[in-house]
Amino acid sequence: MRLFVAIDLPDPQRRLLAAVRGELPGLRWVRPEQLHLTLAFLGEVQQETCAPLSSLLAQVNFAPFRLDFGRLGCFPSRGLPRVLWVGLQPQPQLLQLARSVSSAAVSCGLALEARPFFPHITLARCKEPDRQAVTALLDSQLLEELPPFWVQEFLLFESRLTSQGAVHQVLQRYPCSTQTSSA
Ligand code: 2AM
Repeated sequence: MRLFVAIDLPDPQRRLLAAVRGELPGLRWVRPEQLHLTLAFLGEVQQETCAPLSSLLAQVNFAPFRLDFGRLGCFPSRGLPRVLWVGLQPQPQLLQLARSVSSAAVSCGLALEARPFFPHITLARCKEPDRQAVTALLDSQLLEELPPFWVQEFLLFESRLTSQGAVHQVLQRYPCSTQTSSA
């Protein structure tokens, strides 16, 4: 199974991010319901590893924390925009959560990619982008008003590759140790 661990978005932020697609048609936009912040991409995981992995993930302890959005950007560079994303502020609690999730995966024998964690939500992918339009979007203040949100859980997803693109399914939810009602 192809697995990854991520933070889901509240509906208001999801809707605001989904609205960006109207500004730039012609890109392959991520379906609104699939927008997420990946903590760790685990790749192919054997069925027998899933139960131990899930119980280690359930032991990851974290208190609720606030996530603030950052800027719009693209991979690999503005000159060659292939992946359009919105960044998240790299709060220590977020970095710690990503580290804990990765160590749980490594403890199960999974080999994770060595590239450093760069918190982002992929919004769109493009093969032959209109560079000027992408640059204009990156320079716009479009997402300035995106409200922060509270992280109270993280999720284990399966990603199935289909001819229609990747289809994500939630396998398990892992709540934080203490709930908060702050918004
Ligand atoms: P991305 O948003 O930068 O594409 C599910 O595929 C999630 O895992 C996506 O959010 C994706 O990041 C992330 N991911 C990280 N490394 C990946 C890889 N090698 N292949 C596919 N997805 C990867």
